[in-house]
Amino acid sequence: MNAAPVGMFDSGLGGISVLREAVKMLPREKFIFFGDTANAPYGTKPREEVLRLSRRAVDFLLEKGCKAILIACNTATSAAAADLRLEYAQAPIIGMEPALKPASLLRREGIVLSLATPGTIAGEKYAHLMERFGEGVISLPCPGLMEFVERMEMEGPAVENYLRALLAPYKDARVDAVVLGCTHYVFLRPVLSRMLPGVPLVDGNEGTVRQLKNRLMEKGWLNESGPGGTELYSSGGEQAVMTMARLLSAE
Ligand code: DGL
Repeated sequence: MNAAPVGMFDSGLGGISVLREAVKMLPREKFIFFGDTANAPYGTKPREEVLRLSRRAVDFLLEKGCKAILIACNTATSAAAADLRLEYAQAPIIGMEPALKPASLLRREGIVLSLATPGTIAGEKYAHLMERFGEGVISLPCPGLMEFVERMEMEGPAVENYLRALLAPYKDARVDAVVLGCTHYVFLRPVLSRMLPGVPLVDGNEGTVRQLKNRLMEKGWLNESGPGGTELYSSGGEQAVMTMARLLSAE
């Protein structure tokens, strides 16, 4: 089992930010990544639909012999992780969660802004997180934001205008941290740091990959001999795979 690949999926490019972290932390593992570009976005679809698409992604990855699945998408984790864990007992399934817990540790007298998809924010999992770590947190659903990343438009006036309008009500507030609760938004770090200088931007990527590592170690399935590597697939065709590869190798 140790040499088998780890499967990862997202609605598109966002999961590449998780894959990058995974390659860094687990260089000897082989990763198979599936981007469901043809069905993006997930974040504005009904839960049942995201569950159906997530099942398809997991089937695809298990057919490729994956030993574990990392859901590199907050929306799909919220909509589908619990069901998938019951349905696919053979492989550990690791999910993402918006980093409200680490952000809560950074809060002083100010507020925490939590950016995520409408689907994630409406989900039960998010409500539970808010009960525990939601003091001072303002949740901002961001329909349409992942699309900038999908178009590789991580900089420029259009994305800046979107973010400026989103953040305008908090212009004079003391913002202690911003949660990047969607894996696509991790690619917006440069533009967000310019707009919110000095404010920590917190994502869940490293914590999730650490969890993957722990699960593999518990099972005795960690690949310690390599060779590591990545294999990319997309429901959006060759062009989408090329974009994923470009983003994966970009610094
Ligand atoms: N990257 C995804 C997430 O983390 C989903 C974006 C979308 O498809 O709406 O939630």
